[in-house]
Amino acid sequence: MSVKKTILLVDDDAGLLTLLSLRLRSAGFKVEIARSGDEALGRLVARQPHLVITDLRMDGMDGMALFDSIHEAFPSLPVIILTAHGSIPDAVNAMSKGVFGYLTKPFDSQSLLESVNDAFRHSAPTPTSAKGDAERPWRLGIISRSPVMESLLREVEQVASSNVSILLQSESGTGKELLANAIHKASRRRGGPFVPLNCGAIPEPMLESEFFGHRKGAYTDAMHDHLGAFQAADKGTLFLDEIGDLPVAFQAKLLRTLEEKSIIPAGSREKLSVDVRVLSATDRNLETAITDGTFREDLYYQLSIVTLEVPPLSERREDIPLLANHFLAAARKRLDRDIGGFSKEAMEIMLTAPWPGNVRQLLNTVEQVAVLTTTHLVAASLVQRALRGKTGEIVPLAEAQSKFERDYLVRIMQATQGNVAQAARLAKRNRTEFYKLLSRHHLEPALFRESSKS
Ligand SMILES: Nc1ncnc2c1ncn2[C@@H]1O[C@H](COP(=O)(O)OP(=O)(O)OP(=O)(O)O)[C@@H](O)[C@H]1O
Ligand SMILES: [Mg+2]
Repeated sequence: MSVKKTILLVDDDAGLLTLLSLRLRSAGFKVEIARSGDEALGRLVARQPHLVITDLRMDGMDGMALFDSIHEAFPSLPVIILTAHGSIPDAVNAMSKGVFGYLTKPFDSQSLLESVNDAFRHSAPTPTSAKGDAERPWRLGIISRSPVMESLLREVEQVASSNVSILLQSESGTGKELLANAIHKASRRRGGPFVPLNCGAIPEPMLESEFFGHRKGAYTDAMHDHLGAFQAADKGTLFLDEIGDLPVAFQAKLLRTLEEKSIIPAGSREKLSVDVRVLSATDRNLETAITDGTFREDLYYQLSIVTLEVPPLSERREDIPLLANHFLAAARKRLDRDIGGFSKEAMEIMLTAPWPGNVRQLLNTVEQVAVLTTTHLVAASLVQRALRGKTGEIVPLAEAQSKFERDYLVRIMQATQGNVAQAARLAKRNRTEFYKLLSRHHLEPALFRESSKS
C-alpha cells in the first residue's frame, strides 16, 4: 500500500474506540477518532477520510443520523455501521439507505478487516478533497464512486463553464442525458432553459419546424406560430440526442445554423440570432458513420470540440451497489412497499452481471424485482430471473443446482406462507433436514410469514 488509507472511527465508548483503533492501526491504516457524531462531522469538513466506521447507538446524534448527513455531503464516502447484537433490522434498514455495510458486535478482527477491505475495493482511491459534493449541486442525482466516473465528472466541471460544444459518445443507457443535464447545471447558462430534442424521433418533414420553428400559415395546417428548439433554448442549452440519426440532408442546415448562430423560422424572412450552447449525444460511432457517408465530417467537428465518453457499467462495477440501492430506495418510496434491501447473494449477482444495457438495464432490473419481491430482502433468484432473458449466460453446474434449489425453496415457502412443517412435507424431507436447507440459502421462514400479512 503506497499511501495509507485513513479511517475515521466514531463511537462514544472510549474502550471500543481504543480497541478498534489498535486493530486497524496494526493492519496498516491511519486512524482518526471522534467521540460523537457532531465531532465527526466537524472533522469531515476539514479533511475527508477514505472510510467512516460509526457506532449506531450513541448519545446525541446516532449513527444513522450521522450517516444521513455524511451521505448528503459526500455521497461516495463509504460508511460502515457497528450495531449491537439483535439490532439486525436496523442494520438492514441502514444498508438499504446506502450504508456500505454493518458489523454486529462483538466482532472478530477478521470480519472487521474483511468489511474494511471490501469498502476500499468498491470506492474511489482518493477522497474528493475538502471540496465536498455539497459544493457541486450540479452533480446531485449522479450516483457514482468509481474513479473513472469521478475523473469524468472532474472533466465535466472543467469544460462546463466554457461555451464549447460537447459530444457525448457512449453505449446506450450509460447516462448521457443525465450528464448533459449536469453540464448545463454546472455551466453559466444554468439560469436558462435546457431543451432536449431527440433527433431520431422526429419525422423528416417536421425536422425544420422542430429545430427552427414556423410562422402561422407556413404550412396548410400551421394554425399558430411555433417556437423551434433553437429559440426555446435561447440563453440556455440545446441537447441534440441521438444525433447520429439525423438525415444527411438536414445535417447541412444544422451546420449552417451553428456557424451563423441564427435561424429563419419557416414562413418567415427574418433572421433571428440565437444564443445557444449545443450538447449532443449518440451511441453510434460517428467516425464510422463519416466513412459510410451517413454523417457529415464538418458537422462532426463542429459538434465535438470536446468529446466525452461515459464508461460502460461493466467498467465501473464499484458503482453498482450504490446505483442499485439508490434505485431500490426510489422504487420502495414509489410503490410504498417495505423492502429491506438486497440479499448479499443478490448483490453479488448484480456485481458480476455483464450489463450490456448499462445503468438503464440496472434501473429496469431493480424496478422489476422491487415489484416482484415477496421477501423482505430481495432474493438472488429474483435478480437472476430478471437478468436471465437478457444475458443467457452459462453458469457452472453446481451454481445452477444451487440456484434451482434456492428458487424451489422460495416457491415452496411462499406457497406455505412460511410454514416449515408443511413445506417439509411437500418437499418430502424431514423437518431438520429442511431447516438445514433453508439455512444454507439464508432463507428465514419468518420473512415469508411477514410478507404474507402485508
Ligand atoms: N450515475 C447515475 N446515477 C443515477 N442515475 C443514473 C446514472 N446514470 C444513469 N442513470 C439513470 O439511468 C437511466 C438512463 O440514463 P440516460 O437516459 O441518461 O442514458 P443514455 O446514455 O442517454 O441512454 P440512451 O443511449 O439509451 O438514450 C436514466 O433513468 C438515468 O437517470
Ligand atoms: Mg439518451
